[in-house]
Amino acid sequence: MIYDDELETLPREALEALQLKRLKNTIERVYNLVPFYKRKFEEAKIKPEDVKSLDDLKRLPFTTKQDLRDNYPFGLFTIPLEQVVRVHASSGTTGKPTVVGYSKRDVEIWSDLMARSLAAAGVSKGDVIQNAYGYGLFTGGLGAHYGGERLGATVIPISGGNTKKQIMIMKDFDSTILTATPSYTLYLAETMAEIGIKREELKLKIGILGAEPWSDEMRKSIEEKLNIDAIDIYGLSEIMGPGVAIECIDAKEGLHIWEDAFIPEIIDPETGDVLPDGEEGELVITTILKEAIPLIRYRTRDITRIIKEPCKCGRTHRRIKRIKGRSDDMLIIRGVNIFPSQIESLLMETEGVEPHYQIIVDRVNNLDTMEVKVEVSEKMFSDEIKHLQKLKERIEKDIKDLYGITVKVTLAEPKTLQRFEGKAKRVVDKRNI
Ligand code: DLL
Repeated sequence: MIYDDELETLPREALEALQLKRLKNTIERVYNLVPFYKRKFEEAKIKPEDVKSLDDLKRLPFTTKQDLRDNYPFGLFTIPLEQVVRVHASSGTTGKPTVVGYSKRDVEIWSDLMARSLAAAGVSKGDVIQNAYGYGLFTGGLGAHYGGERLGATVIPISGGNTKKQIMIMKDFDSTILTATPSYTLYLAETMAEIGIKREELKLKIGILGAEPWSDEMRKSIEEKLNIDAIDIYGLSEIMGPGVAIECIDAKEGLHIWEDAFIPEIIDPETGDVLPDGEEGELVITTILKEAIPLIRYRTRDITRIIKEPCKCGRTHRRIKRIKGRSDDMLIIRGVNIFPSQIESLLMETEGVEPHYQIIVDRVNNLDTMEVKVEVSEKMFSDEIKHLQKLKERIEKDIKDLYGITVKVTLAEPKTLQRFEGKAKRVVDKRNI
């Protein structure tokens, strides 16, 4: 179903005219209200009135996650805090998180775009959405929640975890839609089998899955196990949250990015040059409807390509390919974002370990696992075994407290882990996705 008949099928020319108008407004807004942008524009020797066509976008400077961190927490906001009705933040860091804010209108627009996304994925009014995305600073839970309500569906705000209860509720409440990460969906499917709930006892039709990279092979496996349509949904907190782009159920090939709210570009991550449609590179997004924290040419670090061909569903908004991965080294473990450097910081704050470590990521029984191998100091190593056990447990607990996930910590003997002459390779990713 098409949620917004007019906007979703706007002829390209009209869509681009709308984009240009909104882009100009956004540029005026950030230039006049955010000192950071004014400075960056001045450095690039560009004034708002120089942007006369969509093509001029490429003359504007990029914005990065580091810029958000440098302006922590509210430095890039265009409105005073009294007008900010909600904040979200990117998942935990040992340092400062990335903070984003929403005006009342931003939440309205997000709800609309998310409702639009859900409709494109095949959800309609009468559906019962089991929302297993986490509620909190993470945008997944509330994003899907507001979108579902906006569409007129029934939302069960169950959040993530509590797997057996999830399944009971799914059965008893006749949930037709599951919103969750793909890995959690597989875990749910597996638990169902374990506790003897049969697929036929459920009303589930569609899974709206995202927030982490996953493959078409994984989609097939989820669809087979649960006998549902599994739809890929993309988004990021800096740009809005879930609902930036989504596959339509008609084609299930590429994700429509809502171009009346976002302008996508693909760049070469090394040179920053804009690449033609169809070429793979880093996705850069400019928001053209946001009030509280519009972002100009935000470097997502996500690797994808734009699909040139129009979609058979009739929507005119272009599609991006399934996200291939990130250009930096962020790990996403069970939906939680983890940077190796944060693990490093945590380890280095722990007495008794040396700065030699390795992170091994795998997928066992459909769940992401992470092992942190770290060398202990000679002194620690010659100590009693119970101290070593304690140290291991302490690091495991620290990681659990920080990220909410269980990881295995292995203490290695002094001088046993690999040394490097050039750049260190800390992460071994054995997941085949
Ligand atoms: O993950 C928003 C979201 C919630 C999207 C629920 C979809 C569903 P962040 O926590 O800020 O926001 O993480 C954003 O996650 O830059 C990608 O690297 C990755 N990501 C999100 N969706 C997908 C996807 C939410 N469908 C970061 N495929 C992004 C691959 C994804 N990676």
